[in-house]
Amino acid sequence: MKETKQKMDGAWMTPEDIVDEMILFTPEEWFKGNILEPTAGTGNIVNAILNKKVAIGLTPQEAIDTTFANEFDSERYKELVHRIEMWCEYAGAKANYNNITNQDARELKLDVDYNVITNLPFGSWTNSSLPRQIINNLNKPAVYLTKWSTGCNQKYCKSVIKFENIEFPGIVYDCLLWQYDPNIVFDEPQVWLYWPIPRFPKHKLKKKYITGEE
Ligand SMILES: C[S@@+](CC[C@H](N)C(=O)[O-])C[C@H]1O[C@@H](n2cnc3c(N)ncnc32)[C@H](O)[C@@H]1O
Repeated sequence: MKETKQKMDGAWMTPEDIVDEMILFTPEEWFKGNILEPTAGTGNIVNAILNKKVAIGLTPQEAIDTTFANEFDSERYKELVHRIEMWCEYAGAKANYNNITNQDARELKLDVDYNVITNLPFGSWTNSSLPRQIINNLNKPAVYLTKWSTGCNQKYCKSVIKFENIEFPGIVYDCLLWQYDPNIVFDEPQVWLYWPIPRFPKHKLKKKYITGEE
């Protein structure tokens, strides 16, 4: 895959140790129900979701039938399908092709209830509102990994972990892992505390952010 295309699409696949953190951060009961990976890339998170579902007692077929994976890019979509087929072959399940879609996540609609786990397209300079558009479209309880600057600077956030300097191939990001809950409505002024303290110059922080330095 050409690096420029990767940059344009924000298409860095999540490394295994971060995927593990994401699975640990997710409430365990979510894995009993439907989970959507809306920007699944080649399926690193999907694979971990399937394994976790089996680890908590679902059969491989139940895991497959309750896991929904979507990817916009056709090359990555093909690889995603192939990896799910490989998982099925190994686990003894039948692939459920209705659950593996090739759409723009900003328009995706599922006719089942579901929660979301994903590393959103971090975005290049030109499409940095993409994560927010996807979040708005899905509007479901979710665990999101995002780049700091496109992260949870909005309402409805239950908890946040900030990772400093995660290395994706060839690039270093400050990342946020955060749990989104569309049902929470805060009536307090919205003040979000990030930790460890962001190393951004103060003038780059929007008003809503506090740095923990008060
Ligand atoms: C940062 S990568 C992460 C991939 C995967 N979630 C992972 O963690 O390994 C983001 C993925 O989102 C896909 N993508 C970008 N825009 C999209 C859109 N509008 N709808 C669906 N997928 C999209 C990219 O092709 C890329 O594979």
